Amino acid sequence: MVKLIGKSKISCAVFISGRGTNLKSILKFSKKNTSKINIKLVISNRRNAHGLVFAKKNKINFKTISYKNIKKAEIQILKHLKKNKIKFIFLAGFMKILSKNFIKKFKNKIINIHPSLLPKYKGLNTYKRAINNREKFSGCTVHFVSEKLDSGKIILQKKVRIFKFDTAESLANRILLQENKLYPKAINKVLSKI
Ligand code: GRF
Repeated sequence: MVKLIGKSKISCAVFISGRGTNLKSILKFSKKNTSKINIKLVISNRRNAHGLVFAKKNKINFKTISYKNIKKAEIQILKHLKKNKIKFIFLAGFMKILSKNFIKKFKNKIINIHPSLLPKYKGLNTYKRAINNREKFSGCTVHFVSEKLDSGKIILQKKVRIFKFDTAESLANRILLQENKLYPKAINKVLSKI
């Protein structure tokens, strides 16, 4: 395998809103010699997002952006992305919807993780909806972001069994463990083609 260092890596940003376990796993993956990514920037729409701890620990540049005005927020974000020469964006629990205009600027360069087996259960409350519908499986999906919510091309999915005793919380916890493994794999899959 080729050892990638410094400038030969692709500059990427991770957008978060909360806990940040997916950010943590992407950061861990980025440090591998064989990984093609360098996380140069973390964007959060919440000042107190727990995930910012991981940016700080890893000495990654981070910005918190107020979303009171979406247009202004995106102008700010684009400015930071440009400054850091960001080529790819990974959404990791980012709870804001990006505008069509923003998505066009990064066509096929924005990736998201969603806690269901898309195209099933787009949007929120995926665990509860899957349990209520007596599904045998749910899971997670890493996909490209398109202008339609949770509808872009699927990169990778992982199935997770739903048990009779599952609550939304127990299912969410089991899916999260798989998400944290799946996201780096999906990034690797996309970037190995570049
Ligand atoms: C994950 O379940 C992800 O699928 C969803 O938001 C959650 C983020 O978790 N989009 P974390 O902040 O990465 O721990």
